[in-house]
Amino acid sequence: MALTGIFLILFLIVHVGLNACIWAMDDGEMFNKGAHFMGSNIVPRILEIGLFAGILLHIIQGLMLEFQNRSKRKQGYAVAMGNKGSKWYSRSMGILGTLVLLFLVVHISDFWLPNRSSQGFLLGEEINLYEKMKVVFRQEWVVGLYLLGCISLAWHLLHGFQSAFRTLGVSNSKYLVLLNGIGVCFSIIVPLAFALMPLSFYFGWV
Ligand code: HEM
Repeated sequence: MALTGIFLILFLIVHVGLNACIWAMDDGEMFNKGAHFMGSNIVPRILEIGLFAGILLHIIQGLMLEFQNRSKRKQGYAVAMGNKGSKWYSRSMGILGTLVLLFLVVHISDFWLPNRSSQGFLLGEEINLYEKMKVVFRQEWVVGLYLLGCISLAWHLLHGFQSAFRTLGVSNSKYLVLLNGIGVCFSIIVPLAFALMPLSFYFGWV
């Protein structure tokens, strides 16, 4: 779970970086160049298969972990610990992950599916993704749904980021402080940057 989580975190860094090119103020030229490379080069296209496999594996591992946890204790606790033992978002990883997944289903059918089907799923003709974003992010409900997806992602990462590294053995108290700091910054900055993308199109900032 930690390894697939870190793999997905690496994907988010590439995705947010490439998407940030929409703010280059060149009517999407730089963004479309980057998107064209990702969609037409064989290496990112093979990595894409790994990405979808990684997402699927992460979901299966999450479900297995949830069932294991539940089966370990059939009877609930008499006294609820609330936030004393753990944060609410750490106890809500399943629901937060499900919300991110629901966002992903809509998101994939907004961009990835139309683009790949226009390519015949191989390395054919792509659509203009920047122009597509202009159209998609004109609708209030879509912008709202994307914001909800980004907020869910932020809470999911707030637990997941530090948890993944702790699972891999970063448990020394000196590193834990640093790790928590980086985790909190990452979990705020990346989803915030993503959230600003639909908002930028909707309000005409790009
Ligand atoms: C909110 C701002 C976002 C925008 C504007 C955006 C934009 C895009 C676009 C245009 C594509 C299609 C790329 C292509 O067909 O080559 C795409 C694909 C994808 N996005 Fe996003 N995205 C956003 C947020 C996210 C988030 C938060 C996640 C994950 C939680 C995500 C996960 C994916 C995945 C898995 C794909 C398909 C794989 C790929 O093409 O790389 N996106 N996104």
